[in-house]
Amino acid sequence: MAQSIKNVVVIGVSLHSQFGVPSQTSGALLPAFLQRTVSFPQSFIISFFVVFPPQKRSEVAKRSDHHLLSAFSRTARSLIYQAGGNLGPFILSALQKANTAFNISILARQSSTSNFPAGVPVHRTDYSKESLLAIFKDQDAVVSTIATDSLAVQQTIIDAAAEAGVKRFIPSEYGLDTSNPIASDYIPGTKLKQDVHARLRAKESMGMSWTAIIVGLWFDWGMASGFMSWDISNRKVVTYNTGDEHFFGANLARIAEGVVKTLQRPEETKNQFVYVWSHRTTQNEVLAVLKEITGDEWEIERAKTEDATAKGKRLLQEGDGLFGLVNTVLGALFGVPSLSDFKEQAEYWSEKLDLPEEDLEETLRRVVKEVEAKKG
Ligand SMILES: NC(=O)c1ccc[n+]([C@@H]2O[C@H](COP(=O)([O-])OP(=O)(O)OC[C@H]3O[C@@H](n4cnc5c(N)ncnc54)[C@H](OP(=O)(O)O)[C@@H]3O)[C@@H](O)[C@H]2O)c1
Repeated sequence: MAQSIKNVVVIGVSLHSQFGVPSQTSGALLPAFLQRTVSFPQSFIISFFVVFPPQKRSEVAKRSDHHLLSAFSRTARSLIYQAGGNLGPFILSALQKANTAFNISILARQSSTSNFPAGVPVHRTDYSKESLLAIFKDQDAVVSTIATDSLAVQQTIIDAAAEAGVKRFIPSEYGLDTSNPIASDYIPGTKLKQDVHARLRAKESMGMSWTAIIVGLWFDWGMASGFMSWDISNRKVVTYNTGDEHFFGANLARIAEGVVKTLQRPEETKNQFVYVWSHRTTQNEVLAVLKEITGDEWEIERAKTEDATAKGKRLLQEGDGLFGLVNTVLGALFGVPSLSDFKEQAEYWSEKLDLPEEDLEETLRRVVKEVEAKKG
């Protein structure tokens, strides 16, 4: 008999008001910002520029491949309001709008100082198994968008969910194809995601199924934030290798749609990697569309993915989680097609879930508009 999913707990919905501070924020806030560096290069970079005097800023810029840093310093005041809670709010909103009447609630840390959307119950937890067991009783699904630097916490969450009788677990994935074992050779941090797959598989016999959602690059977020070397404000880009290598990317709203469809079709998506995407494109194609939209010439710097991977690994070894992650992801996204160009699976799931390709120009027009509006 087909499973039906009604009661859904979402992790990571917070709106992160603690980061919505004016640009004169004090240096005392730095530790809070630094806790989030691994998953939020944007907030990290902005925070640095906000809390450090100009002479320190150039030090930070030197450590990065991203010449875009200078752009962030100018726009820090507006951009900082975007930092944090990227994907969770999109998922919550899509669940609320879905035809299926989900009973949605939010799981958040006791210590979280985040704001939550009105009208949705919030369960506070210390992430102990006891606390999670009580919260997960009577829940059908757990959707995790837990931060990259907290992925290991999911091991306890999974144990508690299975024991409490949760039917479907969607782990915090939403990136390159971690179903491929080589993912952690290129991006060491993805080993934590692969460990989660193993834990989930071990729970299948207890009746809890799982779906891991693979999306490639967060496309609109990546373009707007500069995370993937696009500096729309200053019409600059670093392109890797020939620039003609294909990669997949999904807009945040599309990823959220994928989560909803997954929960609406539990049998089809059971114990599988599901591929959700908006665009299959290349860096040169994106550049051509951006030139057309902006009507400007762009400054192009060329780089090699093998150098990005090597640099990323070195930085990780030196304890630089942020730029280590950025460089290893860039290396894999543009240089390892088996992790970023999952054409066959993407086409299969696009048809199965009725989530067709989106219009690249439309997405980029929206992103350019958003970036320009924030520039003020
Ligand atoms: N493919 C891409 O381009 C791309 C880009 C970025 C991220 N991702 C992936 O997407 C997923 C979600 O990332 P995100 O950026 O949306 O996450 P995020 O906003 O950094 O964090 C989501 C939530 O995790 C919770 N959290 C933070 N630290 C925690 C801790 N120590 N213990 C328990 N909970 C904690 C917070 O919720 P509360 O404050 O409510 O407790 C936070 O709102 C990750 O797997 C990440 O790797 C992919």
